[in-house]
Amino acid sequence: MPIRIDDARMMASVVPSGVLPAEWNDLALRFGEVHAAVGRENLTGRYGFMELEPQAAEQARVSEFATAARARYDDVVVLGIGGSALGAIAMRSALSRSGDSPRLHVVDNIDPVTISDLLNRLVLNRTLWCVMSKSGTTVETLCQYAVVRERLIAAQLTPAAHLVFVTDPIAGSLRAIAVRDGIPVFDLPANVGGRFSVLTPIGMLPAALAGYDTAALLGGAQRMLTRCSSPSLSENPAGIFAALLWRAQQRAGQATHVLMPYSDRLRDIAPWFVQLWGESLGKVDADGFPAGPTPVGARGATDQHSLLQLLMEGPADKVVAFVKLAAHGSDLTVPADGDLPDVAGFMRGRTLGQLLDAEADATASALARAGRPSLSVTLDACDANTLGELFMMLMLATVYAGALYRVNPLDQPGVELGKKLAKEALQAR
Ligand code: PA5
Repeated sequence: MPIRIDDARMMASVVPSGVLPAEWNDLALRFGEVHAAVGRENLTGRYGFMELEPQAAEQARVSEFATAARARYDDVVVLGIGGSALGAIAMRSALSRSGDSPRLHVVDNIDPVTISDLLNRLVLNRTLWCVMSKSGTTVETLCQYAVVRERLIAAQLTPAAHLVFVTDPIAGSLRAIAVRDGIPVFDLPANVGGRFSVLTPIGMLPAALAGYDTAALLGGAQRMLTRCSSPSLSENPAGIFAALLWRAQQRAGQATHVLMPYSDRLRDIAPWFVQLWGESLGKVDADGFPAGPTPVGARGATDQHSLLQLLMEGPADKVVAFVKLAAHGSDLTVPADGDLPDVAGFMRGRTLGQLLDAEADATASALARAGRPSLSVTLDACDANTLGELFMMLMLATVYAGALYRVNPLDQPGVELGKKLAKEALQAR
């Protein structure tokens, strides 16, 4: 079964701020226009992340490289930041199993303690470093690379045998270094930006090196693309997600959008989504006004003991999107005759998965009773195919939301000033 969205708790029949039937019709009309506009723009090659088929040749190169590398390395380390790292982290959480070989690490920061610890732990001769940067100009990633390269040389290892790059097909300094030193390099299509790149070699190289089923990931993504070819709002899951969250902000002031997976394996979908939704939509709109939602990541059931009080009784400016699994894959039964205090006696003979699912549903119901809207995205399983479907759904939703908020979802002009000031501060020292 494909991914399902339950939007009942976004409706006026359940929560006062919800969508009225007549409003749904308006929203569906509006979405039809957005869908057509995105379709037209897509014909110009604007949304490269939707072009899965043209990437097949590069994907085949990735698979061939990964097959050989998996026998040669015990550890694979992704060096990157933002969209060049968060997808790999999300996939590792969802798809890795204990005992995986090679082990996948993702270094998405420049904290010297983290990087030193990792360098000291790994056997360099058995480690492959994947340097990921669309632009090839990101100072954090270039510095990670320079530090690692120096270590390789100090250990008398050939950098080209322990490095692989993913970057723009033409631009950027990484491309030039790869050509100069004979370092293997894979192309990130020029028309795919960082936070939309999880289904390109930025995500697929680490996935293939870790042994995840990349064909299934891409197959799931393609299935979602096909579903979302429908201009009918009720048949387009990415459209429902985008339109309802946008409408919640526009009509009910619900500008904080919380993504809350009820699964540890899906927990890192939340930071990936936060970057995607926040960096794509938070900007100046076509009329020159600040626009966009504030995305927040959470995890059930853990954050019931952290954020839920705020969600229930704090400012009514939030919508929660739950992400649930129809089946957890494996489960643990609470012993029927175990040492369980009476206060939790109702759990005797039941499973932890049942408790997690019941808590997800109960949290949604409690929010609804408090007049707080939510929607649920249900995945049949936490596997590569479904994950690919989820990635594509949320990326498409972001593009639709960009059109609804009337912002360009593909740029990030607001992050440039901080970069410039950091550079000036270091140069002045
Ligand atoms: O989504 C984006 O464009 C950014 O978050 C980038 O992914 C991030 O800045 C890293 O950029 P790059 O891949 O060019 O190193």
